[in-house]
Amino acid sequence: MPSAADGAAAPFRLAVLASGRGSNLQALIDAQRAGRLPIEIVLVASDKAQAQALRRAEDAGIATLALDPKGYASRAAFDADLFARVAEYEPALIVLAGFMRILDPAALAPWVGRIVNIHPSLLPKYRGLHTHRRALEAGDAVHGASVHFVTAELDGGPVVAQAEIPVHAGDSADGLAERLLAREHRLLVAAIALIAAGRVALADDGVRYDGTPLAAPLRLADDGTLAPPA
Ligand code: GRF
Repeated sequence: MPSAADGAAAPFRLAVLASGRGSNLQALIDAQRAGRLPIEIVLVASDKAQAQALRRAEDAGIATLALDPKGYASRAAFDADLFARVAEYEPALIVLAGFMRILDPAALAPWVGRIVNIHPSLLPKYRGLHTHRRALEAGDAVHGASVHFVTAELDGGPVVAQAEIPVHAGDSADGLAERLLAREHRLLVAAIALIAAGRVALADDGVRYDGTPLAAPLRLADDGTLAPPA
């Protein structure tokens, strides 16, 4: 076991699950490389062999795993195998970064408190898909993204932190998504940094921040830091 006498603590082990583009994964890789995030990404796993996220991981020298759900009899069987394989890498935290699958509750259960998701809405608004379009249709003046602990309820777990952006007149869903993405990247890096530092954790009564129950999600400031809302 490493000790304080070793000079540096062992990096916080992260596994990332992603189905597509992987820009949030890239943000984690870049932050880690820049010395802004003391983590080690030990595995990137996907349900899509063609996912760009896997190529990004390979380029970064990170172990990858692609599993095809079609090869399994059920969602439960796929998720059981996926999580068993992820567990072999002994991650301290699993990050769902654009992982487009609903998780089997039994496979998820052992990981509750050690698995987070990034979702492109200000939860509890707009769980599920098409969040940008739904925010526009609702006439929202403010849109955003959330990092939350994952529970069996889709996009329903306790929210750790959020980033907001204004909605402009004439915004399209794609334009909004693109503008939000840059904020998502900073949000995810900042939230993972707090979890890795042990400053944010899931307790029975919800999210704790520096040991205190969080009354409302942390907010991303322009300087990229997270703090409780004023
Ligand atoms: C992001 O918008 C994230 O919030 C959502 O899926 C998208 C993934 O983008 N869950 P990327 O694959 O990280 O580029």
